[in-house]
Amino acid sequence: MGQPTNRVFSGIQPTGNLHLGNYLGAIKKFVALQDSHECIYCVVDLHAVTAQLVQDDLKNQTREIAAAFIASGIDPAKHIVFNQSQVREHAELAWLFNCVARMGWLQRMTQFKDKAGKNAQNASVGLFAYPNLMAADILLYRATHVPVGDDQKQHLELTRDIAAKFNNDFAAKISEFGHGDEGYFPITDPIIEGPATRVMSLRAGNNKMSKSEPSDMSRINLTDSADDIAKKIRKAKTDPEPLPETMDELADRPEARNLIGIYAALAEKNSQEVLTEFAGQQFGSFKPALAELAVDKLAPINAEMRKLMDDPDHVDSILADGADRARLIAQDTMKEVREIFGFLG
Ligand code: TYM
Repeated sequence: MGQPTNRVFSGIQPTGNLHLGNYLGAIKKFVALQDSHECIYCVVDLHAVTAQLVQDDLKNQTREIAAAFIASGIDPAKHIVFNQSQVREHAELAWLFNCVARMGWLQRMTQFKDKAGKNAQNASVGLFAYPNLMAADILLYRATHVPVGDDQKQHLELTRDIAAKFNNDFAAKISEFGHGDEGYFPITDPIIEGPATRVMSLRAGNNKMSKSEPSDMSRINLTDSADDIAKKIRKAKTDPEPLPETMDELADRPEARNLIGIYAALAEKNSQEVLTEFAGQQFGSFKPALAELAVDKLAPINAEMRKLMDDPDHVDSILADGADRARLIAQDTMKEVREIFGFLG
């Protein structure tokens, strides 16, 4: 079987509080790639239990991410939308990747260090091996492109290392199976571009906007009402200076840089274009413009998400159908991977 050349895979964890960072860093790009690529978008529920074993209402959290995908414009009929745990091959390939990846590679993962904190000895083995499961998600479909936010960059480098080691260690077997020089797994390209690859907290411009930050004022949730969005932007931390003319002048103004980046991503412009438009103005006039734009873009998504969440059976049937289609690809890959490893049966 030849390798796919334009297959996109990406995933989001169903761990609550889907926010503007997830939307601008990931979902909005997922939508844009649909015209040019064959896309597989996954609610990664197996990942959700790595940091916290007992999850509150995992089923509804899973539906909510699927609803956000669809409400944002992902077409589950043309592309594949499913949740990871329905396709068991993810766990199987992740196990094999536990044997391909090296301890030293995983020990370098900064996200494990951040998430495990001071008590790494008490973190789950799953949290440590998490990047191997992520590599399995991507390579199970032999995806060539992975749109993500900047915080996933290191995990994607690891995915490339795993693919390269597998291709190299099994080179003889792989060519026996007719895969030629290109190897079995593609060396996946991350897609991390645009003005919002790292959306920062509205309360502290040096911290990433995150689902787990205790202060809800630090993030705009996709489920926030128009009033909440406007209030959070009005109260966002800024500085007393007017907006400058060039991005270089924002180098030491992380909060201002963040709001400009958010505006640019929502308006589909680059940050410099936005600065040119608002140069010389105070936040007193920029913030209302940003609030209006954010509400304009997010309110329809919010409304559509609510509609979908009112009909959980419909969302479940979309996920089940997506899982059926994903499984067909996953099973083909696993059949070959089992042969390459040399397992009997
Ligand atoms: P997760 O669920 O933490 O985040 C989902 C996506 O949102 C992006 N993101 C951000 N982008 C910009 N600014 C932010 N503040 C911000 N916060 C989050 C993330 O980069 C991500 O793209 N490990 C992944 C999920 C995953 C995955 C995969 C992704 C599992 N398997 C395979 C791609 C391919 C994660 O925890 O994302």
